[in-house]
Amino acid sequence: MTAQGSQLRFLVFVGSVRRNGMAARVGRFVQKLLETRHHSVEVLDPKELNLGEVIQPLHFYSNPRQVPAILHHINEKIKAADGFVVVAAEYNSAISPASSSLMGNFPQSSYAYRPSAIVTYSAGKFGGIRAAMQLRQFLSELRTVHVPAMLVVPRVHETILEDGEETTGGYLTRAGDTMCRQLAWYANALKKHRESEDTPD
Ligand SMILES: Cc1cc2nc3c(=O)[nH]c(=O)nc-3n(C[C@H](O)[C@H](O)[C@H](O)COP(=O)(O)O)c2cc1C
Repeated sequence: MTAQGSQLRFLVFVGSVRRNGMAARVGRFVQKLLETRHHSVEVLDPKELNLGEVIQPLHFYSNPRQVPAILHHINEKIKAADGFVVVAAEYNSAISPASSSLMGNFPQSSYAYRPSAIVTYSAGKFGGIRAAMQLRQFLSELRTVHVPAMLVVPRVHETILEDGEETTGGYLTRAGDTMCRQLAWYANALKKHRESEDTPD
């Protein structure tokens, strides 16, 4: 339970479909961070969902009956969530295509008025910071409120093990914890306000 008494639900979007990639381990690390704080967590992994590229996002179907059930299913999870964590690899100094593809399948209105937190990683020493800067713009466009603290993970293949444990003596956990506390604060505040006030649009 949170300080305010209700359990918060978070969706974690994982952002790579690369074979033998690092995405799943970072997803596991983030899942543990949130579960330690007693939040309900679901990880959406594009490799398992197999949605492919953004060819026809849910809100671009002229006939709603043709929308694949899987898109409806994920959209309902997004709308039911109190907030999001976006775990993205940096590809060519930018957000990984899998991240923008996964999230771009769903309308902005499903994400709106909920907070988001940014986690990036890379094989190099900058931890995907350039993708993190782009994610701020991307997540604003999806109408989420991104929290100030981010988690930037350098040399991911060494700093996070396959089971999601870190090897930095608690450094990543402390940085991630600040981010999680900010995410929970905004999630609680916005949840209460969504429940008591209509949203502008
Ligand atoms: C197509 C591609 C582009 C990459 N571009 C960058 C980059 O711009 N900066 C960086 O630090 N690492 C870059 N890398 C290294 C990735 O950060 C590293 O391989 C990471 O593990 C990718 O995430 P994934 O394993 O989950 O796919 C790139 C990797 C790939 C496959």
